Amino acid sequence: MKAERIDGKRISDEIKDEVALAVESLQQQGITPCLAVVLVGNDPASAVYVRNKKKASERVGILSRTYELEEDTEEDELLHLIEQLNLDKGVHGILVQLPLPSHIDEEKVIFAIDPQKDVDCFHPLNVGMLQTGRKGFLPCTPAGVLALIERSGYTVEGKECVVIGRSHNVGKPTAMLLLQKNATVTICHSKTQNLKEVCKRADILVSAVGKIHTVTADMVKEGAVVIDVGMNRNAEGKLCGDVDFEEVGEVAAAVSPVPGGVGLMTVAMLMENCVTAAKLQHGIL
Ligand code: GUN
Repeated sequence: MKAERIDGKRISDEIKDEVALAVESLQQQGITPCLAVVLVGNDPASAVYVRNKKKASERVGILSRTYELEEDTEEDELLHLIEQLNLDKGVHGILVQLPLPSHIDEEKVIFAIDPQKDVDCFHPLNVGMLQTGRKGFLPCTPAGVLALIERSGYTVEGKECVVIGRSHNVGKPTAMLLLQKNATVTICHSKTQNLKEVCKRADILVSAVGKIHTVTADMVKEGAVVIDVGMNRNAEGKLCGDVDFEEVGEVAAAVSPVPGGVGLMTVAMLMENCVTAAKLQHGIL
């Protein structure tokens, strides 16, 4: 592989170090940011993500509280917990780990979170704030994608960026962030007819599909930067992304690996949002 392997570990560590300094400075003002993480049910992947969020919080000096609820928890009970956390002045950020069990309405739950505590940036008010270019929370994974690109020394302004995937939580907001950085942005999805040709135009190609072998070497322009947001398991149960890492690395200038890429960044950006939340609630932003 000729391409640079984008180092999510190094970059996420760098961001966490910066967050730790910001937390220290808040503590000198008598404020310790606190994140409440709510996990409903027994999804093993979600349990790992929640553990990683807790570990990252400890590392940067953010307090964390984890609420683990049974799989058969009633929607009303979850909404009641969120209401309590909304009112709790000691809690700055609220994160409800997704996916939720199918009997719970995810949209209702997201709407219930106080927008000032919405560190995922999933609440429609915060989505609208982002869309209209206002200050506030940045969605964690999209912000992580952007940080990987920029902190690896690549600029976005004026570039052809192609995002594959149009999910509410990743594809769409990633495209929006790239647009705000003055990129020319195209979003591809399952109905796109000439995926290969469109992707081949990209100076920066982001894949957020969740399917192995989505991006192959013949879809990538020579010298492109490729960011892999996929989190998949291959036939052997090994974690892998959407991008054929080795082959694409023969064509691209830089590729982000899975694991070791975007996943680590999501957690680092969440820590940043917890600091933003504490500042917002104390009127210092
Ligand atoms: N499930 C997978 N990724 C995420 C995330 O970033 N936030 C939440 N709340 N749930 C998730």
